[in-house]
Amino acid sequence: MEMIEVWNLKKGYRIARKSTGIMGNLRHLVMPRYDTLEAVRGISFRIEEGESVAFLGLNGAGKSTTIKMLTGIMKPSEGTVRIMGRDPFSNRIDNARRIGVVFGQKTQLWWDIPVIETFRLLKHIYDIPEHQYSRNMDRFSDILGLHEFLSQPARKLSLGQRVRADLAASLIHEPPILFLDEPTIGVDVTAKQKIYEFLKETNREKKTTILLTSHDMKDLESICQRLIILEKGKILFDDSIDQLLGRYGDELTLEEIVIRLFEHDAGICQGE
Ligand SMILES: Nc1ncnc2c1ncn2[C@@H]1O[C@H](COP(=O)(O)OP(=O)(O)OP(=O)(O)O)[C@@H](O)[C@H]1O
Ligand SMILES: [Mg+2]
Repeated sequence: MEMIEVWNLKKGYRIARKSTGIMGNLRHLVMPRYDTLEAVRGISFRIEEGESVAFLGLNGAGKSTTIKMLTGIMKPSEGTVRIMGRDPFSNRIDNARRIGVVFGQKTQLWWDIPVIETFRLLKHIYDIPEHQYSRNMDRFSDILGLHEFLSQPARKLSLGQRVRADLAASLIHEPPILFLDEPTIGVDVTAKQKIYEFLKETNREKKTTILLTSHDMKDLESICQRLIILEKGKILFDDSIDQLLGRYGDELTLEEIVIRLFEHDAGICQGE
């Protein structure tokens, strides 16, 4: 089953064209002028149920913009997105049941109340049956060590604890699709290990489809089977990681292969 379909997706941001100096600022107030920054320039791909896909790209390549369009937070300028057959932007409430989202830089936890209360609220919002809720909370405690800080308010958690709690919160309603935008940013090696284990198990046992962006090659190698590389808003590469390693893995590490892809190494880009 196709979980994510993206066709000719584009996003342009309107940004103010500012002149310098007082006169320039005044002119901008009277007659503002704008340019369009093309952040995503016509990308297409399909992701099947149970796939785990890494979305790689340099800073500003358009990864977060794409994730925001796929999760229904942002409306595309052009093109179509289908999440399990539906447009995520116009069916945002329905869509929220089908997806889990983690933005490593932001939290979805209520800041001032104990973490457990966020989970109780989510149980209520998603109407999660008691047995499902307690089974999931047990699992989150086992693998992510959630019980260690459930009684603390989110603002008192360390970054690694906060990310683990966010990850659990994104999966409490067992969504079939999980979007992760830099989920391990600033997280230490042992917490990362827990996160990888948890995501791999979720992908394997629940067939959860995962789309992840990261700058950390370990994330990619540990979790993902397929690699999509974005460059300046366009797809530079889309193939399975096993295929890449099969072709070049004897001589190069995955990181070296990825660097060559970014450098437009003709042999690797064309699969020769
Ligand atoms: N709200 C916004 N308004 C204007 N421009 C934006 C906005 N959000 C992003 N951009 C621009 O769009 C481009 C793509 O940004 P985006 O955040 O999608 O990149 P990214 O691939 O996630 O980068 P990073 O690896 O740094 O997170 C960048 O040039 C960025 O400056
Ligand atoms: Mg980003």
